Amino acid sequence: MVRRRRMVRSFTDEPLDPAQVDRLLGNAVRGPSAGFTQGWSFLVLETPADRELFWAVASPASSDRDLTAWKAGLRRAPLIVVPMASKAAYLDRYAEPDKAGAHLGHDESRWPVPYWHVDVGMASLLILQTAVDLSLGACFFGLGGPQRPAFHAAFGVPDAWDPTGVIAVGHPDEPGRGAAGSPARRPRKPLAEVVHRGRWTGQ
Ligand SMILES: Cc1cc2nc3c(=O)[nH]c(=O)nc-3n(C[C@H](O)[C@H](O)[C@H](O)COP(=O)(O)O)c2cc1C
Repeated sequence: MVRRRRMVRSFTDEPLDPAQVDRLLGNAVRGPSAGFTQGWSFLVLETPADRELFWAVASPASSDRDLTAWKAGLRRAPLIVVPMASKAAYLDRYAEPDKAGAHLGHDESRWPVPYWHVDVGMASLLILQTAVDLSLGACFFGLGGPQRPAFHAAFGVPDAWDPTGVIAVGHPDEPGRGAAGSPARRPRKPLAEVVHRGRWTGQ
């Protein structure tokens, strides 16, 4: 199941079954979250009008790469989920008495890594893996910095909620697979290069 997951960047226009959408979202919130903060929210865009609005605000005006195939295939996805993180929810949660021992709280400089995006990343992976379970395809991609203010305004998203990325889900369009991802251009690193047993080895 894990090894079958690949980012799918081209979809048919076949809609999703509402039960599939419920399953994708229901599994997302089964992910781990630091202090069980669950400082996540998921904006779900399903109607053609909402999806059009999303692509209008989220597509970069220019890029140094040719994004034509990437955008054409992705745009047909019948479902867009924007998983978002609330930093404030985590800072508040870790200021609660049962988390005093973690010494994090409201002083952001004490936080070793942004747990809010870690947790939303984990929930996002559950959506990607659930898509595999449902014989669907999905792609996680970033929302550019310059596109964020327009995104927030278009969908009435409060500033406190920061998109970790975007997930497009649909039925894979196998024959016209659309844009291949980075794995077509660079190899998977061998385990020996990334795994260090007992002591750091190599570079
Ligand atoms: C944080 C993050 C951002 C990504 N952004 C993009 C993106 O903007 N466009 C895209 O086509 N793929 C994007 N990807 C997908 C990666 O390119 C893909 O996961 C990687 O090349 C490995 O391929 P695989 O997931 O199919 O195994 C992103 C993945 C992650 C985790």
